[in-house]
Amino acid sequence: MAADIFSTFQLDDLMLSSRMVMAPMTRNRADDKGNVTPMMVTHYQQRATAGLIISESVPVSAQAVGYPCTPGLFADAHVTGWLRLTNAVHSSGGRIFAQLQHCGRISHPDLQPGEAVPVAPSPLRPSGKAVTYAGMQDFVTPRELMLEEIPDIVAQFRRAAELARRAGFDGIEIHGANGYLIDQFLRDGTNRRGDAYGGNVGNRMRLLNEILDAVSQVWPAGRIGVRLTPENSFNAMVDSDPQTHFEYIIRELGTRSLAYVHVLQGDMSEKSSAVDYRALRACFPGTYIANNGYDLELAKKAIANGDADLVAFGLPFIANPDLVRRYRQGLPLNRADPATFYGGDAAGYIDYPFFTGEEVFAI
Ligand SMILES: Cc1cc2nc3c(=O)[nH]c(=O)nc-3n(C[C@H](O)[C@H](O)[C@H](O)COP(=O)(O)O)c2cc1C
Repeated sequence: MAADIFSTFQLDDLMLSSRMVMAPMTRNRADDKGNVTPMMVTHYQQRATAGLIISESVPVSAQAVGYPCTPGLFADAHVTGWLRLTNAVHSSGGRIFAQLQHCGRISHPDLQPGEAVPVAPSPLRPSGKAVTYAGMQDFVTPRELMLEEIPDIVAQFRRAAELARRAGFDGIEIHGANGYLIDQFLRDGTNRRGDAYGGNVGNRMRLLNEILDAVSQVWPAGRIGVRLTPENSFNAMVDSDPQTHFEYIIRELGTRSLAYVHVLQGDMSEKSSAVDYRALRACFPGTYIANNGYDLELAKKAIANGDADLVAFGLPFIANPDLVRRYRQGLPLNRADPATFYGGDAAGYIDYPFFTGEEVFAI
């Protein structure tokens, strides 16, 4: 029988209640010290019927921060706040991984300790603007990380991985996607280094490998996932040959017995895609999470065809805390309001209604 999106799924030693994953989504509702707020606890608890929640991006250090009001994991107070949140998710039967992030060049001196210039593999200024407490400001040219600084970046991830354990998460997702620091190393449009961390794809992957080695000393491999975006142009990213490069990267990741690889397929801003994701998926022997633009029908098809083991949904989970039930029972969906995505109060965050009317029909 073909696999079913609503069936349970054994993710290493964790049993998930379905194959529906809530995609990581930054909502800028933490306080300005990076602490979890009560409305965040409510937001995630409301969505605990997802088979697995992947948290919004969590900066691994003060240097890793790239946006206002993002919840961190680099201070004891952060652990206390997240523990409240993970307890709430668990008490409602959910599972939650922390998405560990370093923004690299997608930051601004206004967000950095001592107003430092943000760091990156190479001093290449992204087009576009940073979101700061003083509003939108042009990105600056980042400072190239010196070779001797790289062990500290790795240590930042390791420390955050330790704090994620103390904070009660079920696992961690290393954010290697969407134009942030690890992705800046992976893709050749942003990595012009001439040392062991630049040049061929094996070298560009060295930072990710070192981070995975480090966090594997804290978590079993089966509780560590990696997110990748071979093609997403978000944050001014390009790569000369995503098919070849990401087949290599995913094949290498496949040797580690990770919980999963999570791929945002295509480009968030364009419909077209030059990458053969079926070929990419075939490079990975473990659990593959597909994401980007999936609705129920597409997700069912991907799972039935074996193109994905799990499917992550972003926008549908913003607007529908009870998305699993709505999909399962063929109920109408609420629409997400982009005006309330990033920052603000409870409106558009914890006030999307659960379905309370008559069930419409069963799919
Ligand atoms: C408001 C918003 C915030 C997002 N924040 C993150 C994030 O913190 N980390 C990440 O990897 N992707 C982030 N994304 C991308 C989503 O995880 C997902 O890849 C994207 O929404 C496409 O999936 P969908 O078509 O199901 O919405 C964000 C997307 C949105 C709409």
